[in-house]
Amino acid sequence: MSAALSIKSAIEFYDFHPPVDDFKAEVLQGLQQQQKAISAKFLYDKRGAELFDAICTLDEYYLTRTEIDILQTYGNEIAALVKDGVLIEFGSGSSQKVRFILDATMPNLPTYVALDISKQHLYESCTNLVEAYPELQAIAICTDYTQPIRLPDIYSIKHKRKVAFFPGSSIGNLEPSEVVQFLKNTAMLLEPNGSLLIGVDLKKSKEILEPAYDDPQGISAAFALNLLVRINRELGADFDLDKFCYRAFYNAIGRIEMYIVSLETQVVHIDGMEIPFQQGETLRTEHSYKYSVDEFQNLADLAGFQPQRVWTDPKQLFSLHYLQLPN
Ligand code: AVJ
Repeated sequence: MSAALSIKSAIEFYDFHPPVDDFKAEVLQGLQQQQKAISAKFLYDKRGAELFDAICTLDEYYLTRTEIDILQTYGNEIAALVKDGVLIEFGSGSSQKVRFILDATMPNLPTYVALDISKQHLYESCTNLVEAYPELQAIAICTDYTQPIRLPDIYSIKHKRKVAFFPGSSIGNLEPSEVVQFLKNTAMLLEPNGSLLIGVDLKKSKEILEPAYDDPQGISAAFALNLLVRINRELGADFDLDKFCYRAFYNAIGRIEMYIVSLETQVVHIDGMEIPFQQGETLRTEHSYKYSVDEFQNLADLAGFQPQRVWTDPKQLFSLHYLQLPN
């Protein structure tokens, strides 16, 4: 048999042309607030994505490996919930975690829908995925999953039960009020009887949490400070990297707060604007919310989801929720 014939899978590609962010406008606006803050979405330029991948392999950053442990341990249970349906991954990135689900569903693979804002990344990872799973039907959609979206009106996903997959505790970057809106948008996309499989980092001691977000090797610091490098490069700013440091701490209201801190009183120039910093003044790069099982189930309930299952690891570090919409 020829190589071409042995590939039974197919990728259907859709480009919904997600609006591009106005980086300059958002940065300037964020730097003129009382509490300086820039959206976490801007941390992921090429270098930022590499540094985040490095964070995921740190001993201190338990999230990634713990979620993978849960996916592997409960793979058969998860597979039973997904089979015969359509599995829709939000922010599919390199499509690595979904492989643990696909492995467990074999040979009854679900239809896979990958949603990602990066067209390039989406195309490459879906191509790799169908190479590894030759029977997989994959639908790649370039779109911004953080906004209300629709799925293409195609036979392969219509009238089938939809399961959204949102791993990594990426939901942690949203404020709790935004979580409810996001879950409501997700419910619209999934339609009645759909469900959501979502990874959520659990509350725990700050002795475990803080090193996960400020490791001794300085990778977490480099990840945050790379935002300044990006602003210098893309907006022609003059941040002096020696005059800023990184700080992360657990706020007992239930979130890690991450900041870039000005080491002295100084003025930074961006696009003809002067941005003053006091010594010790902070620029917030991220909030990373942590939820107990009950807290997250309550938020899900506010969006109309019924908590169905939740899996955790033996050390109760991380949770994987399975939430169901009524018929
Ligand atoms: C991508 C939001 C899940 O909050 O754990 C990790 C981002 N920032 N270390 C997290 C992050 C610094 C990460 N999420």
